[in-house]
Amino acid sequence: MTADLALSSEALTKRFGDFVAVDQLDLRVERGTIFGFLGANGAGKTTTIRMLCGLLAPTSGEALVDGVDVGRRPEEVKARIGYMAQKFALYNDLTVDENIRFFADVYLVPRKKMRDRRAFVLSTTGLEDRVKTLTGTLPAGIKQRLALAVALLHEPRVLFLDEPTAGVDPLSRRAFWRLIHQLKDQGTTVFVTTHHLDEAENCDQVLFMQAGRAVGLGPPRALRAGADRGDRVRITGGSGPALREDPRVLEIYAMGSRWHARLRHPAEAAALARDHGVEVLPVSPTLEEVFLEAIGEGAGR
Ligand SMILES: Nc1ncnc2c1ncn2[C@@H]1O[C@H](COP(=O)(O)OP(=O)(O)OP(=O)(O)O)[C@@H](O)[C@H]1O
Ligand SMILES: [Mg+2]
Repeated sequence: MTADLALSSEALTKRFGDFVAVDQLDLRVERGTIFGFLGANGAGKTTTIRMLCGLLAPTSGEALVDGVDVGRRPEEVKARIGYMAQKFALYNDLTVDENIRFFADVYLVPRKKMRDRRAFVLSTTGLEDRVKTLTGTLPAGIKQRLALAVALLHEPRVLFLDEPTAGVDPLSRRAFWRLIHQLKDQGTTVFVTTHHLDEAENCDQVLFMQAGRAVGLGPPRALRAGADRGDRVRITGGSGPALREDPRVLEIYAMGSRWHARLRHPAEAAALARDHGVEVLPVSPTLEEVFLEAIGEGAGR
């Protein structure tokens, strides 16, 4: 483990009785990067985050967050990190401003800094005109922005976001990711989980987790390139049923007015194009396809 990193862990493990929720996890997250943590329900993402935030004691293994040993000094870690929990944790019966003031006290934001921090988080998350709104009446996307505002109050160097865009519409998701990039540009390290594989393209590094173990790691582009066997193609024209019948086509689905297919063998693309009178162009796999393969659910496995 290195203190230079924003976050690192060695053999981090959490057991609940006989059940191993997080199994010997080694993490390395560079400062000022966005680290995406992906895995199916129950993979162990929230458990890992709770250990890294000093909220849950590891069964074994170690972790350093912003240079501080989480197992030994969890309180010091809590002061350096921001944590946006998977479950909305603010008060619905308080206004936006009341929530911000309440949590500023909880996070021990010094009184003299309060004015600046409040103004900063409100402008960063674009909530200035909502301060008097009752939190419970906010749309999902705006609630999540408020939760982020609260997580930013005490100027954390490392920010943990546990499914910040769950249940949020595509436009608001995009706006949320613009915010994450802005925080990264300001030097914050962002550790984020999501079930939206398209969002993971925003990350510098992505880790796939399955049943508590890491089953893939790398920048999105490298992960896609690594899984590219040249057998995925885009087909323009032709008839779906005829293509589906063709033994050279292992898998095919419509993508707008075209088809996305996986071929038995890349070398058969030209013959397929000729026989069906279609255009066949190679495409790299999507991150979703790479993820499904990594967790052993990919077609052809
Ligand atoms: N306090 C606990 N006691 C017993 N088992 C637990 C406890 N907390 C979590 N688990 C189990 O550990 C596993 C991992 O849970 P965790 O919440 O970390 O998954 P996750 O990857 O965050 O899933 P999701 O995508 O649904 O949020 C699950 O099987 C869960 O039931
Ligand atoms: Mg979770």
